[in-house]
Amino acid sequence: MVTTRQGAALTVLGIETSCDETAAAIVRRTADGRGEILSSVVRSQLDLHAAYGGVVPEIAARAHVELLDAAIKQALAEADLRVDAIDAVAAAAGPGLVGGLIVGVTTGKAIALGLGVPFIAVNHLEAHALTAGLTDNLAFPYLLLLVSGGHTQLLIVKDVGAYERLGTTLDDALGEAFDKAAKLLGLGYPGGPEVEREAARGRATVPLPRPMLGRPEPHFSLAGLKTALRHEAQARAPLGEQDIADLCASFQEAVAEIVADRTARAFDIYIERLGPNAQQALIVAGGVAANQRLKAALEEIAAIRGFRLVVPPPELCTDNAAMIAWAGAMRRARGLSDDLAAPARARWPLDPDAPPALGAGVKA
Ligand code: KG4
Ligand code: ZN
Repeated sequence: MVTTRQGAALTVLGIETSCDETAAAIVRRTADGRGEILSSVVRSQLDLHAAYGGVVPEIAARAHVELLDAAIKQALAEADLRVDAIDAVAAAAGPGLVGGLIVGVTTGKAIALGLGVPFIAVNHLEAHALTAGLTDNLAFPYLLLLVSGGHTQLLIVKDVGAYERLGTTLDDALGEAFDKAAKLLGLGYPGGPEVEREAARGRATVPLPRPMLGRPEPHFSLAGLKTALRHEAQARAPLGEQDIADLCASFQEAVAEIVADRTARAFDIYIERLGPNAQQALIVAGGVAANQRLKAALEEIAAIRGFRLVVPPPELCTDNAAMIAWAGAMRRARGLSDDLAAPARARWPLDPDAPPALGAGVKA
Protein backbone atom coordinates (compact mmCIF):
# COMPACT_ATOMS: atom_id res chain seq x y z
CA MET A 1 0.00 0.00 0.00
CA VAL A 2 1.19 3.49 -0.83
CA THR A 3 1.64 5.67 2.25
CA THR A 4 1.08 9.38 2.17
CA ARG A 5 2.93 11.69 4.49
CA GLN A 6 0.63 13.96 6.46
CA GLY A 7 0.74 17.39 4.87
CA ALA A 8 1.84 16.20 1.44
CA ALA A 9 -0.20 17.39 -1.55
CA LEU A 10 -2.79 14.86 -2.68
CA THR A 11 -4.86 14.45 -5.82
CA VAL A 12 -8.00 12.42 -5.17
CA LEU A 13 -10.65 10.98 -7.47
CA GLY A 14 -14.08 11.06 -5.84
CA ILE A 15 -17.12 8.99 -6.82
CA GLU A 16 -20.71 9.62 -5.73
CA THR A 17 -23.54 7.17 -6.49
CA SER A 18 -25.60 7.11 -3.28
CA CYS A 19 -28.84 8.43 -4.73
CA ASP A 20 -29.82 9.76 -8.15
CA GLU A 21 -26.73 11.72 -9.13
CA THR A 22 -23.88 9.92 -10.87
CA ALA A 23 -20.84 12.05 -10.09
CA ALA A 24 -17.06 11.99 -10.40
CA ALA A 25 -14.61 14.71 -9.44
CA ILE A 26 -10.94 15.40 -8.95
CA VAL A 27 -9.85 17.48 -5.99
CA ARG A 28 -6.36 18.49 -4.95
CA ARG A 29 -5.51 19.06 -1.32
CA THR A 30 -2.46 21.26 -1.10
CA ALA A 31 0.29 20.69 1.43
CA ASP A 32 -1.09 23.54 3.57
CA GLY A 33 -4.51 21.87 3.73
CA ARG A 34 -6.45 23.90 1.19
CA GLY A 35 -8.74 22.29 -1.35
CA GLU A 36 -8.93 22.93 -5.07
CA ILE A 37 -11.57 21.41 -7.33
CA LEU A 38 -9.89 20.39 -10.58
CA SER A 39 -13.10 19.02 -12.06
CA SER A 40 -16.59 18.09 -10.88
CA VAL A 41 -18.94 16.17 -13.14
CA VAL A 42 -22.54 15.54 -12.05
CA ARG A 43 -24.90 13.60 -14.27
CA SER A 44 -28.37 13.95 -12.84
CA GLN A 45 -30.81 11.12 -13.42
CA LEU A 46 -33.75 13.41 -12.68
CA ASP A 47 -35.46 12.77 -16.02
CA LEU A 48 -35.38 8.99 -15.41
CA HIS A 49 -37.19 9.30 -12.08
CA ALA A 50 -39.45 12.32 -12.61
CA ALA A 51 -42.33 10.26 -14.01
CA TYR A 52 -42.44 8.24 -10.76
CA GLY A 53 -42.43 11.29 -8.46
CA GLY A 54 -39.38 9.98 -6.59
CA VAL A 55 -36.15 8.03 -6.97
CA VAL A 56 -36.65 4.41 -8.07
CA PRO A 57 -33.69 2.47 -6.56
CA GLU A 58 -33.41 -0.15 -9.29
CA ILE A 59 -33.49 2.45 -12.08
CA ALA A 60 -30.90 4.51 -10.19
CA ALA A 61 -28.51 1.57 -9.79
CA ARG A 62 -28.74 0.66 -13.48
CA ALA A 63 -28.19 4.24 -14.53
CA HIS A 64 -25.09 4.50 -12.33
CA VAL A 65 -23.67 1.45 -14.13
CA GLU A 66 -24.30 3.15 -17.47
CA LEU A 67 -23.10 6.64 -16.57
CA LEU A 68 -20.24 6.26 -14.11
CA ASP A 69 -17.36 5.29 -16.40
CA ALA A 70 -18.06 8.21 -18.71
CA ALA A 71 -18.35 10.59 -15.74
CA ILE A 72 -14.93 9.49 -14.45
CA LYS A 73 -13.37 9.86 -17.90
CA GLN A 74 -14.85 13.32 -18.21
CA ALA A 75 -13.59 14.32 -14.75
CA LEU A 76 -10.05 13.28 -15.72
CA ALA A 77 -10.30 15.07 -19.06
CA GLU A 78 -11.61 18.30 -17.51
CA ALA A 79 -8.84 18.20 -14.90
CA ASP A 80 -6.41 17.57 -17.75
CA LEU A 81 -4.94 14.61 -15.86
CA ARG A 82 -4.05 11.06 -16.69
CA VAL A 83 -5.41 8.44 -14.34
CA ASP A 84 -1.92 7.69 -12.98
CA ALA A 85 -1.81 11.22 -11.49
CA ILE A 86 -4.39 10.08 -8.92
CA ASP A 87 -2.98 9.52 -5.41
CA ALA A 88 -6.12 8.00 -3.87
CA VAL A 89 -9.66 7.00 -4.83
CA ALA A 90 -12.61 7.89 -2.59
CA ALA A 91 -16.13 6.57 -3.11
CA ALA A 92 -19.31 7.27 -1.18
CA ALA A 93 -20.00 3.99 0.63
CA GLY A 94 -23.16 5.04 2.49
CA PRO A 95 -25.66 5.92 3.69
CA GLY A 96 -27.86 5.66 0.63
CA LEU A 97 -29.44 3.30 -1.86
CA VAL A 98 -27.30 0.21 -1.65
CA GLY A 99 -27.53 -0.81 -5.32
CA GLY A 100 -26.04 2.49 -6.44
CA LEU A 101 -23.47 2.54 -3.65
CA ILE A 102 -22.19 -0.88 -4.73
CA VAL A 103 -21.62 0.45 -8.26
CA GLY A 104 -19.52 3.38 -7.00
CA VAL A 105 -17.64 1.46 -4.33
CA THR A 106 -16.77 -1.42 -6.65
CA THR A 107 -15.62 0.93 -9.39
CA GLY A 108 -13.53 2.92 -6.91
CA LYS A 109 -11.90 -0.17 -5.48
CA ALA A 110 -11.08 -1.48 -8.96
CA ILE A 111 -9.41 1.80 -9.98
CA ALA A 112 -7.48 1.99 -6.68
CA LEU A 113 -6.34 -1.61 -7.04
CA GLY A 114 -5.30 -1.07 -10.65
CA LEU A 115 -3.30 2.04 -9.77
CA GLY A 116 -1.90 0.67 -6.51
CA VAL A 117 -3.21 3.65 -4.53
CA PRO A 118 -5.31 3.76 -1.34
CA PHE A 119 -9.09 3.42 -1.41
CA ILE A 120 -11.22 5.46 0.98
CA ALA A 121 -14.83 4.51 1.76
CA VAL A 122 -16.46 7.87 2.47
CA ASN A 123 -19.54 8.49 4.55
CA HIS A 124 -21.74 10.68 2.35
CA LEU A 125 -22.91 12.68 5.39
CA GLU A 126 -19.31 13.27 6.45
CA ALA A 127 -18.62 14.60 2.98
CA HIS A 128 -21.46 17.14 3.36
CA ALA A 129 -20.11 17.98 6.82
CA LEU A 130 -16.56 18.64 5.60
CA THR A 131 -17.52 20.72 2.53
CA ALA A 132 -16.99 23.97 4.45
CA GLY A 133 -13.27 23.17 4.59
CA LEU A 134 -13.20 22.91 0.81
CA THR A 135 -15.27 26.00 0.02
CA ASP A 136 -14.33 28.33 2.86
CA ASN A 137 -11.25 26.76 4.43
CA LEU A 138 -13.32 26.71 7.62
CA ALA A 139 -11.51 25.27 10.64
CA PHE A 140 -13.15 22.95 13.21
CA PRO A 141 -15.39 23.06 15.16
CA TYR A 142 -18.64 24.23 13.62
CA LEU A 143 -22.32 23.40 13.56
CA LEU A 144 -23.81 21.65 10.53
CA LEU A 145 -27.43 21.82 9.41
CA LEU A 146 -27.91 19.14 6.77
CA VAL A 147 -31.23 19.40 4.96
CA SER A 148 -31.68 17.17 1.92
CA GLY A 149 -34.19 14.79 0.42
CA GLY A 150 -32.95 11.99 2.65
CA HIS A 151 -31.54 13.72 5.73
CA THR A 152 -32.36 16.37 8.29
CA GLN A 153 -29.67 16.67 10.94
CA LEU A 154 -28.01 19.16 13.23
CA LEU A 155 -24.49 18.06 14.11
CA ILE A 156 -21.45 19.44 15.85
CA VAL A 157 -18.49 18.84 13.55
CA LYS A 158 -15.50 18.61 15.91
CA ASP A 159 -12.93 17.04 13.61
CA VAL A 160 -12.67 14.50 10.82
CA GLY A 161 -14.52 11.46 12.19
CA ALA A 162 -15.72 13.27 15.33
CA TYR A 163 -19.39 14.28 15.16
CA GLU A 164 -22.04 14.83 17.76
CA ARG A 165 -25.57 14.62 16.50
CA LEU A 166 -27.81 17.10 18.26
CA GLY A 167 -30.98 16.75 16.25
CA THR A 168 -32.60 14.62 13.59
CA THR A 169 -36.07 14.10 12.17
CA LEU A 170 -38.59 11.83 13.80
CA ASP A 171 -40.28 11.15 10.47
CA ASP A 172 -39.83 12.85 7.07
CA ALA A 173 -36.67 14.60 5.91
CA LEU A 174 -37.09 18.28 5.08
CA GLY A 175 -36.66 17.83 1.33
CA GLU A 176 -38.99 14.85 1.44
CA ALA A 177 -41.60 17.07 3.14
CA PHE A 178 -41.25 19.63 0.31
CA ASP A 179 -41.55 16.82 -2.25
CA LYS A 180 -44.68 15.40 -0.59
CA ALA A 181 -46.22 18.87 -0.24
CA ALA A 182 -45.63 19.47 -3.95
CA LYS A 183 -47.12 16.12 -4.88
CA LEU A 184 -50.31 16.65 -2.90
CA LEU A 185 -50.73 20.06 -4.54
CA GLY A 186 -50.24 18.57 -8.00
CA LEU A 187 -46.84 20.17 -8.59
CA GLY A 188 -43.83 18.49 -10.23
CA TYR A 189 -40.80 16.63 -8.86
CA PRO A 190 -38.46 17.51 -7.19
CA GLY A 191 -40.96 19.47 -5.18
CA GLY A 192 -38.78 21.96 -3.30
CA PRO A 193 -38.07 24.34 -6.20
CA GLU A 194 -41.73 24.09 -7.34
CA VAL A 195 -43.04 24.96 -3.88
CA GLU A 196 -40.59 27.88 -3.64
CA ARG A 197 -41.67 29.19 -7.05
CA GLU A 198 -45.38 28.98 -6.17
CA ALA A 199 -44.74 30.50 -2.74
CA ALA A 200 -43.23 33.60 -4.36
CA ARG A 201 -46.68 34.68 -5.56
CA GLY A 202 -48.58 33.44 -2.51
CA ARG A 203 -49.51 34.79 0.91
CA ALA A 204 -48.64 32.84 4.03
CA THR A 205 -52.17 33.12 5.38
CA VAL A 206 -53.15 29.46 5.75
CA PRO A 207 -52.95 28.34 9.40
CA LEU A 208 -50.45 25.48 9.68
CA PRO A 209 -48.83 23.98 12.79
CA ARG A 210 -45.13 24.36 13.73
CA PRO A 211 -44.38 20.90 15.19
CA MET A 212 -41.56 20.67 17.79
CA LEU A 213 -41.26 24.44 18.21
CA GLY A 214 -39.64 25.25 21.55
CA ARG A 215 -38.74 21.64 22.39
CA PRO A 216 -35.42 21.38 24.27
CA GLU A 217 -33.88 18.81 21.92
CA PRO A 218 -33.38 20.20 18.41
CA HIS A 219 -35.25 17.42 16.65
CA PHE A 220 -37.66 17.88 13.75
CA SER A 221 -41.02 16.34 12.90
CA LEU A 222 -42.63 17.15 9.58
CA ALA A 223 -45.29 14.50 9.03
CA GLY A 224 -47.93 16.47 10.99
CA LEU A 225 -47.25 19.62 9.00
CA LYS A 226 -47.74 17.70 5.76
CA THR A 227 -51.00 16.19 7.04
CA ALA A 228 -52.24 19.63 8.08
CA LEU A 229 -51.39 20.93 4.62
CA ARG A 230 -53.41 18.10 3.08
CA HIS A 231 -56.43 18.96 5.24
CA GLU A 232 -56.19 22.65 4.33
CA ALA A 233 -55.88 21.74 0.65
CA GLN A 234 -58.92 19.42 0.85
CA ALA A 235 -60.93 22.13 2.60
CA ARG A 236 -60.25 24.49 -0.31
CA ALA A 237 -60.79 22.00 -3.16
CA PRO A 238 -61.04 22.49 -6.07
CA LEU A 239 -57.81 24.45 -5.76
CA GLY A 240 -57.35 27.60 -7.79
CA GLU A 241 -53.94 29.01 -8.68
CA GLN A 242 -54.01 31.47 -5.79
CA ASP A 243 -54.94 28.69 -3.33
CA ILE A 244 -51.92 26.66 -4.42
CA ALA A 245 -49.61 29.65 -4.12
CA ASP A 246 -50.99 30.53 -0.66
CA LEU A 247 -50.67 26.93 0.54
CA CYS A 248 -47.06 26.82 -0.70
CA ALA A 249 -46.19 30.16 0.93
CA SER A 250 -47.74 29.03 4.20
CA PHE A 251 -45.97 25.68 4.14
CA GLN A 252 -42.61 27.30 3.35
CA GLU A 253 -43.13 29.87 6.10
CA ALA A 254 -43.88 27.13 8.65
CA VAL A 255 -40.77 25.21 7.60
CA ALA A 256 -38.57 28.33 7.81
CA GLU A 257 -39.83 29.09 11.32
CA ILE A 258 -39.33 25.50 12.44
CA VAL A 259 -35.79 25.35 11.05
CA ALA A 260 -34.84 28.71 12.60
CA ASP A 261 -36.20 27.62 15.99
CA ARG A 262 -34.50 24.22 15.94
CA THR A 263 -31.21 25.73 14.77
CA ALA A 264 -31.34 28.39 17.50
CA ARG A 265 -31.75 25.60 20.03
CA ALA A 266 -28.73 23.85 18.52
CA PHE A 267 -26.71 27.09 18.92
CA ASP A 268 -27.43 26.95 22.68
CA ILE A 269 -26.34 23.33 22.97
CA TYR A 270 -23.25 23.98 20.84
CA ILE A 271 -22.14 26.72 23.25
CA GLU A 272 -23.04 24.60 26.29
CA ARG A 273 -20.87 21.78 24.95
CA LEU A 274 -17.89 23.69 23.57
CA GLY A 275 -17.88 26.84 25.68
CA PRO A 276 -18.33 30.49 24.68
CA ASN A 277 -14.88 30.78 23.09
CA ALA A 278 -15.38 28.06 20.47
CA GLN A 279 -15.72 29.27 16.89
CA GLN A 280 -19.38 30.06 16.27
CA ALA A 281 -20.15 29.08 12.70
CA LEU A 282 -23.08 27.33 11.04
CA ILE A 283 -22.72 25.52 7.74
CA VAL A 284 -25.82 24.56 5.78
CA ALA A 285 -25.72 21.71 3.27
CA GLY A 286 -28.19 19.67 1.25
CA GLY A 287 -30.56 20.55 -1.57
CA VAL A 288 -33.03 22.40 0.66
CA ALA A 289 -30.29 24.96 1.43
CA ALA A 290 -31.13 26.39 -2.02
CA ASN A 291 -34.43 27.72 -0.59
CA GLN A 292 -34.14 31.50 -0.29
CA ARG A 293 -36.79 31.87 2.43
CA LEU A 294 -35.02 29.26 4.53
CA LYS A 295 -31.70 30.94 3.93
CA ALA A 296 -33.12 34.31 5.00
CA ALA A 297 -34.51 32.77 8.20
CA LEU A 298 -31.14 31.22 8.97
CA GLU A 299 -29.32 34.46 8.18
CA GLU A 300 -31.57 36.28 10.61
CA ILE A 301 -31.14 33.83 13.46
CA ALA A 302 -27.39 33.49 12.89
CA ALA A 303 -26.98 37.28 12.93
CA ILE A 304 -29.01 37.60 16.13
CA ARG A 305 -26.95 34.90 17.82
CA GLY A 306 -23.57 35.94 16.47
CA PHE A 307 -22.94 32.82 14.41
CA ARG A 308 -21.19 33.08 11.07
CA LEU A 309 -23.34 31.47 8.34
CA VAL A 310 -21.60 29.49 5.61
CA VAL A 311 -23.73 28.26 2.73
CA PRO A 312 -21.60 26.63 0.04
CA PRO A 313 -22.61 27.35 -3.58
CA PRO A 314 -25.64 25.26 -4.67
CA GLU A 315 -23.59 22.83 -6.75
CA LEU A 316 -21.59 21.93 -3.63
CA CYS A 317 -24.63 21.88 -1.29
CA THR A 318 -26.38 19.26 -3.38
CA ASP A 319 -24.92 15.83 -4.04
CA ASN A 320 -21.61 15.94 -5.89
CA ALA A 321 -18.34 14.03 -6.02
CA ALA A 322 -16.02 16.93 -5.16
CA MET A 323 -17.18 16.67 -1.56
CA ILE A 324 -16.48 12.91 -1.61
CA ALA A 325 -12.97 13.48 -3.00
CA TRP A 326 -12.34 16.20 -0.41
CA ALA A 327 -13.53 14.00 2.49
CA GLY A 328 -11.27 11.26 1.12
CA ALA A 329 -8.35 13.69 0.96
CA MET A 330 -8.93 14.84 4.53
CA ARG A 331 -9.08 11.26 5.79
CA ARG A 332 -6.01 10.34 3.76
CA ALA A 333 -4.08 13.34 5.13
CA ARG A 334 -4.67 11.80 8.56
CA GLY A 335 -3.27 8.49 7.36
CA LEU A 336 -6.67 6.82 7.04
CA SER A 337 -7.71 4.44 4.28
CA ASP A 338 -9.91 1.38 3.89
CA ASP A 339 -9.28 -2.11 2.68
CA LEU A 340 -10.99 -3.61 -0.31
CA ALA A 341 -13.47 -5.43 1.90
CA ALA A 342 -15.10 -2.12 2.91
CA PRO A 343 -18.85 -2.61 2.41
CA ALA A 344 -21.53 -0.38 0.93
CA ARG A 345 -23.80 0.60 3.79
CA ALA A 346 -27.47 1.58 3.46
CA ARG A 347 -27.35 3.09 6.96
CA TRP A 348 -24.27 4.71 8.40
CA PRO A 349 -24.91 7.26 11.16
CA LEU A 350 -22.18 9.87 11.68
CA ASP A 351 -22.63 9.74 15.42
CA PRO A 352 -23.27 6.11 16.37
CA ASP A 353 -23.50 7.11 20.05
CA ALA A 354 -26.41 9.51 19.54
CA PRO A 355 -29.36 8.46 21.69
CA PRO A 356 -32.32 7.41 19.56
CA ALA A 357 -34.80 10.22 18.96
CA LEU A 358 -38.20 9.18 20.28
CA GLY A 359 -40.76 8.64 17.55
CA ALA A 360 -41.65 6.32 14.76
CA GLY A 361 -39.61 5.86 11.59
CA VAL A 362 -36.50 7.68 12.78
CA LYS A 363 -33.90 8.09 10.03
CA ALA A 364 -30.19 7.52 10.63
O1 KG4 B 1 -29.22 17.23 -1.49
P1 KG4 B 1 -30.18 16.91 -2.59
O2 KG4 B 1 -29.92 17.48 -3.95
O3 KG4 B 1 -30.32 15.37 -2.81
C1 KG4 B 1 -30.48 14.45 -1.77
O4 KG4 B 1 -31.58 14.41 -1.20
O5 KG4 B 1 -29.51 13.75 -1.46
O6 KG4 B 1 -31.61 17.38 -2.08
C2 KG4 B 1 -32.75 17.21 -2.86
C3 KG4 B 1 -33.92 17.73 -2.05
C4 KG4 B 1 -35.25 17.45 -2.71
O7 KG4 B 1 -36.13 16.94 -1.74
C5 KG4 B 1 -35.69 18.82 -3.21
O8 KG4 B 1 -37.10 18.98 -3.26
C6 KG4 B 1 -35.06 19.74 -2.19
O9 KG4 B 1 -33.80 19.17 -1.92
N1 KG4 B 1 -34.89 21.10 -2.72
C7 KG4 B 1 -35.52 22.18 -2.22
C8 KG4 B 1 -35.17 23.27 -3.05
N2 KG4 B 1 -34.31 22.81 -4.02
C9 KG4 B 1 -34.16 21.48 -3.80
N3 KG4 B 1 -36.35 22.32 -1.17
C10 KG4 B 1 -36.84 23.55 -0.93
N4 KG4 B 1 -36.57 24.63 -1.69
C11 KG4 B 1 -35.74 24.53 -2.76
N5 KG4 B 1 -35.47 25.61 -3.51
ZN1 ZN C 1 -26.53 14.31 0.11
